[in-house]
Amino acid sequence: MDELSGPGILSPRTNLGSDISLFLAIGFILMFLYAGYLARSKNGRAHHRMILASMALMIFYLVYYIQVRYMGLASVADQGSFPGPDWIYSKILRPLLMVHVVVVSISLYLSIYMVINGFMARFPMGDGSLSLKTGPASPSKILWGIALFWLALLVWLTILSGRFDFSHAVIFLTLGFGAPAGMALLIHFTLPKADRRHRIVGRICLLFFSLMLVTTVSTYFLLYIAKY
Ligand code: HEM
Repeated sequence: MDELSGPGILSPRTNLGSDISLFLAIGFILMFLYAGYLARSKNGRAHHRMILASMALMIFYLVYYIQVRYMGLASVADQGSFPGPDWIYSKILRPLLMVHVVVVSISLYLSIYMVINGFMARFPMGDGSLSLKTGPASPSKILWGIALFWLALLVWLTILSGRFDFSHAVIFLTLGFGAPAGMALLIHFTLPKADRRHRIVGRICLLFFSLMLVTTVSTYFLLYIAKY
C-alpha cells in the first residue's frame, strides 16, 4: 500500500490515496444521481440496477476508506498540515467538515432505507417493466430486523462494554439509533402510500447525495487544490 502515500495526480499537495478516495466518491454519487434520472424517465428496471451498482461501489468505497484512509484519519492528518490562513480553517473548512459529516451520515441512513423500501414497493408489470405499488406501504420485517440487530450492537458497544460513560453512551445511542428510527417512524406516519413514499423520500435522498457531492468536492478543494 506504500504507493498510495506517493504523489497524487490532482495537485502537488495530494497523494494517490486521497485522489482515489475522491474519484471513487464522485463515481458512486454520480451513478446514484443518474439512477434518479432513470427513475424520472420512467425506466424503473434500469433505475433499480443502477442504484444497486452505485451502492456496491459505495460499499467498496467505505471499505477502502476504513482500510486505506484509516476511517478519515489520513484526512484529519492532512488537515493538521493545512497550508492556508487560520481564518479559512476556522471559519470555512471546519464548519464545512461538520456539515459534510452530517450530510454523509443522513445520506447513508436514507440510502439503506431506500434500497429496502425499493424492494418492498416495486411492482412488476406484465410487459416486464417495473413500477411501484399504489396501495398502503407495509412495514418491512427486514428493516426492523436490521434495526433491532443494530440497536443490540450499539447497546453492547456503548453501555455493556463499559467503554463510555453514561452521557456519551446516550449521545451515541441517540445519533446511531434514535435519529434514524425516529426518521423511519415519521416517514411511516406521514407517507402511508407505497409509491408516494418511495418517490418523495427518494427525491430527498437524491438531494442529500447532491449535497454530499458539493461538500466532498469543496472540502477536497480547500485541503489540497486551493492556492494560498
Ligand atoms: C437509494 C435507493 C433509491 C432511491 C434514492 C430511489 C429514488 C427514486 C425516485 C426519486 C423515484 C421517482 C422518480 C420521479 O418520479 O421523479 C423512484 C422511482 C422508482 N423506483 Fe426507486 N429509488 C431507490 C431504490 C430503488 C430500488 C432498490 C428499486 C427496485 C427494487 C426501485 C424501484 C423504483 C421504481 C420501479 C420506480 C418507478 C419508476 C416509474 O415511475 O416508472 N427504486 N425511485
